[in-house]
Amino acid sequence: MPAPFTKRALLLSLMLGFAQAQAASGPGPVALAAESGIPHPAVIAHRGASYDAPESTAAAYRAARDLGADYLEMDLQRSKDGVLFALHDNNLQRTTDVATKFPERKDSPANAFTMAELKTLDAGSWFNAAYPDRARPSFVGLKILTLDEIIDIAQANPLHKPGLYIETKEPKQFPGIERDLKAKLQDRGWLIPAGAKGKRKELAVGQGKGRVVLQTFEKSSLELLEKEMPQVPKILLLWVGEGNIEPKSKVSFAESGDKDHAAYYARQEPKSKAEFQQWVDYAKAQGAIGTGPSAALTHGGDQSYADLAKPWMNQYTHDQGLLVHVYTVDDAVDYQKVMAAGVDGIFTNRASELLKFYKRPAAASVGQILQNNGY
Ligand code: G3P
Ligand code: CA
Repeated sequence: MPAPFTKRALLLSLMLGFAQAQAASGPGPVALAAESGIPHPAVIAHRGASYDAPESTAAAYRAARDLGADYLEMDLQRSKDGVLFALHDNNLQRTTDVATKFPERKDSPANAFTMAELKTLDAGSWFNAAYPDRARPSFVGLKILTLDEIIDIAQANPLHKPGLYIETKEPKQFPGIERDLKAKLQDRGWLIPAGAKGKRKELAVGQGKGRVVLQTFEKSSLELLEKEMPQVPKILLLWVGEGNIEPKSKVSFAESGDKDHAAYYARQEPKSKAEFQQWVDYAKAQGAIGTGPSAALTHGGDQSYADLAKPWMNQYTHDQGLLVHVYTVDDAVDYQKVMAAGVDGIFTNRASELLKFYKRPAAASVGQILQNNGY
């Protein structure tokens, strides 16, 4: 007569089954993030606190730091005279007064300007004109920042040291930028964990082994970043379009009849499941610790793209032992949606809102923090 199958035996077999399943699929995303020294879920302040202050300026980065964001995100470019600096767009028209200061060169790429020339530009006034409800007189005259200056900002608050989340932007325009970035990070002591001072046991994000995360949309740049800085966590950014994931439909925006880009992108999807998977596989093979997929936002807007953070996509990525940091999400409805779909961190222009959502609210309001920093 077989022994009775007691509740205890049932529990034991369930636990064993769970342990075997875990062993088969490897550590989960929380453990993966911890291995790389990356908070989970991560708050990545996209171009700084860029909803509340002009993107990629000292006002935006200081605010993101003092709010308690885990990372200051930036798009890296290199000036004509070789200085690394942060700017998203290829040229200076949208976010500076280049048309007034250098009218004959207003369409030139930013890398056609020396750092001294870039420093003459006003990178704050455009924000006041675009967002009068968030405008501040102190934003007028804000400067484009060098990587050195952003590092200074990241290091300056003794109570909170965020990490740096650095994108090599259009790296084909900047041959050797991966090596230049390595030299700068090395020079500033950011390629090794800084170690905690005093009695704190836990390292802050900006002091541990995940203090720098490197990101790129370009396969060639991922490979160069891995070659130059194999020990630094890397993310392959994903979107549907030229040079990245091949779309199912080849109909262009102009041909589509869609009313705006967000509506067009919302219907974009990878050519096939295998097409998506091969990009994730490539990221893993090149040493990335995760992917950065685009999100389709509930309310649309110019940062709403194809939904590449669907549950099956995140599951597949996790199954390969990779993390998912989705860009760029600002509303609670979308925070909820992407977290439910399984992402491990979010790029956001509204670090204050995401911190609230994660139940890690800042000690002061954004307005107070901007004011404390003199804005
Ligand atoms: O770095 C990823 C995220 O920033 C989205 O891309 O165009 O805003 O740099 P973008
Ligand atoms: Ca970016």
